Amino acid sequence: MNIKITNLSKGFGKLTIFDDFSLTLESGSRHCLFGPSGCGKTTLLNLLAGLETKESGTIEGIDQRKIAYVFQEERLIPWLTVRENIEFVVGEKGKSAPDVAHLEAILELVELTSFQNHYPSELSGGMKQRVSLARAFAYNGEILVLDEPFKGLHHDLKLKLMDYVLKYWEMERPHLIFTTHDVEEAVYLSSDIYVLEGPPVSIKAHTQVSGREKSAVIEEILTTMRRV
Ligand SMILES: Nc1ncnc2c1ncn2[C@@H]1O[C@H](COP(=O)(O)OP(=O)(O)OP(=O)(O)O)[C@@H](O)[C@H]1O
Ligand SMILES: [Mg+2]
Repeated sequence: MNIKITNLSKGFGKLTIFDDFSLTLESGSRHCLFGPSGCGKTTLLNLLAGLETKESGTIEGIDQRKIAYVFQEERLIPWLTVRENIEFVVGEKGKSAPDVAHLEAILELVELTSFQNHYPSELSGGMKQRVSLARAFAYNGEILVLDEPFKGLHHDLKLKLMDYVLKYWEMERPHLIFTTHDVEEAVYLSSDIYVLEGPPVSIKAHTQVSGREKSAVIEEILTTMRRV
């Protein structure tokens, strides 16, 4: 199901973030929102997730669908361990028991098996980010929203996690929407890149990645960004 944003308006006080903004995010794609700090990317994700209220306009294709969201800021539950933070999203206590093998595979993937009984305060920033990703993978949402998901991670692990996101996407086909400031990350992970500017947010370019030489796409995006 496509996600269709039509004539969206939203501001914070005197600051207009969206002014009659429209965008259709087609299902089956991996969308990257690429734009400068403060342009409105997180606000858009929050509007999609229903965490911010819009002033006017419509957002279709979200209702009743399960959204897994990795927030830009870490939001782990401090009094739960790594493992419990992940378990927390997969099964309500007393109801369906979490799939232990699946949980362990995810812990292994993000290289946190040996830290599963640690509390968030005992982890580095990158480790906390890995727990947040693990939690989203375990939740298995129809829509997977990732707000700068790989920041603070070493290149090797970043590549591994991006590959896992791609593998997960191949298997489950969630509607993937993510943000990044890293052009290579954008090209590696997405099928469609929206280069944004603002506020108010506008689409400077829509670049399709699939089937194209990655270096040509990077050059195209850098050229777009240089354009005033
Ligand atoms: N709850 C809020 N109250 C007031 N202003 C806000 C609020 N949330 C965001 N803003 C403002 O809206 C603008 C867009 O913020 P947003 O977080 O969406 O940017 P962003 O594109 O995600 O930036 P970054 O790349 O730095 O994460 C900024 O000027 C920010 O100060
Ligand atoms: Mg942001």
